[in-house]
Amino acid sequence: MTSKTRTRVLTGITTTGTPHLGNYVGAIRPTVHASRDASTDGFYFLADYHALIKCDEPARIQRSTLEIAASWIASGLDPEKVTFYRQSDIPEIPELTWLLTCVTGKGLLNRAHAYKASVDKNHEAGKDTDADVTAGLFMYPVLMGADILMFKAHKVPVGRDQIQHIEMARDMASSFNHLYGEHFVLPEAVIEESVALLPGLDGRKMSKSYDNTIPLFAPAAQMRKQIAAIVTDSKAPGEPKTTEGSALFQIYQAFASAEETAALAQAYADGIGWGDAKQMLFERIDREIAPMREQYQALINNPAQMDKILLAGADKARQLATPFMRELRHAVGLRSLASSAATAAPADTKVAQPSFKQYREKDGLFYFKFVDAKGQVLMQSLGFDSPKAAGQTIAQLQAMGAEGLSALSHTLEPISSEIRAQIVENLRIL
Ligand code: TRP
Repeated sequence: MTSKTRTRVLTGITTTGTPHLGNYVGAIRPTVHASRDASTDGFYFLADYHALIKCDEPARIQRSTLEIAASWIASGLDPEKVTFYRQSDIPEIPELTWLLTCVTGKGLLNRAHAYKASVDKNHEAGKDTDADVTAGLFMYPVLMGADILMFKAHKVPVGRDQIQHIEMARDMASSFNHLYGEHFVLPEAVIEESVALLPGLDGRKMSKSYDNTIPLFAPAAQMRKQIAAIVTDSKAPGEPKTTEGSALFQIYQAFASAEETAALAQAYADGIGWGDAKQMLFERIDREIAPMREQYQALINNPAQMDKILLAGADKARQLATPFMRELRHAVGLRSLASSAATAAPADTKVAQPSFKQYREKDGLFYFKFVDAKGQVLMQSLGFDSPKAAGQTIAQLQAMGAEGLSALSHTLEPISSEIRAQIVENLRIL
């Protein structure tokens, strides 16, 4: 299957904390599993620009980025098979954020849940509407829109609290496409219904904000100690226990097979002591986590290696982002002054346009083709060693018109004189 027909799946992880069992069961494990599906193309990234919105401790951002990256890889994400990168290694992301900012209604952002929650809190406290609200928090959905639209993601697996952000990204994409032509894919949120919400130590949802988490890769002794701290009722050993509402049981279920779960339910009915049940839980989790823990530690101890993996991922991501950003800049009018479109009527920009399409072939080389408004291919390049070389040739063709066709003919497939006239015509309206 070629990359064009594969579904693009993209998701980001904000780098503000240490991954815990809830993150593992709810996000990491299902995502790593889904990333192995050969009919999808996975893009997974560390949303460290988003982290700055919530966190002003540089050391924590850095540490969290390392821990999350190491967790995903130790949990089986294969950076060779997917594109795994750090948001801040892609300068095109903030660049696209600005283009999207300019097509996003301020009113749309006013309605974002996270921003509204801050405003409501301020009103309740009798404070100014925007007290302590940064423009970063306000702009959060636009940055997220850029993350998603940059890579033309079809599907975005997220938690329920993020659905609105995906809808906003769709709005931004539609507005932009309407104004400047069909450049963006409209993304869809994917909510994993079957994934259990993991309860934390106190029985509420496991979450950093409740301070009730069990770190994913804590040393085994520490994990055992934390499991011992999970709340239970005060029933003595020998007394039958109920599985319903038992955090311990629910956590066990998230790791165990159906048979194992049934066996624990039977043990509950038979009056297993809480100490023994906790030991069973620890052993079951550790059986899954222990082999990964070793790789996690190795990665944590070698941050330079982690940097290398992430930079290689960014390189891969930018093979797409760089030419796409060039296309978008051109679309909005940030383009060479010599480009003949400078004199075209502005209305022209709203109908289908001839365009250059850049892509990479299996031979590893970079190509472009020039298609007219109906999608007919008029010109086909030979292979270039880098996307930059291909892009420069495109820029020259745009700037030079007919003259460029002759001067650069050594970089192009042969062109008949009839097609040549069409190309010149199309270059002019571009
Ligand atoms: N906002 C997301 C969260 O907090 C993280 C994120 C940033 C994201 N950019 C994204 C998720 C793009 C999906 C797609 O969970």
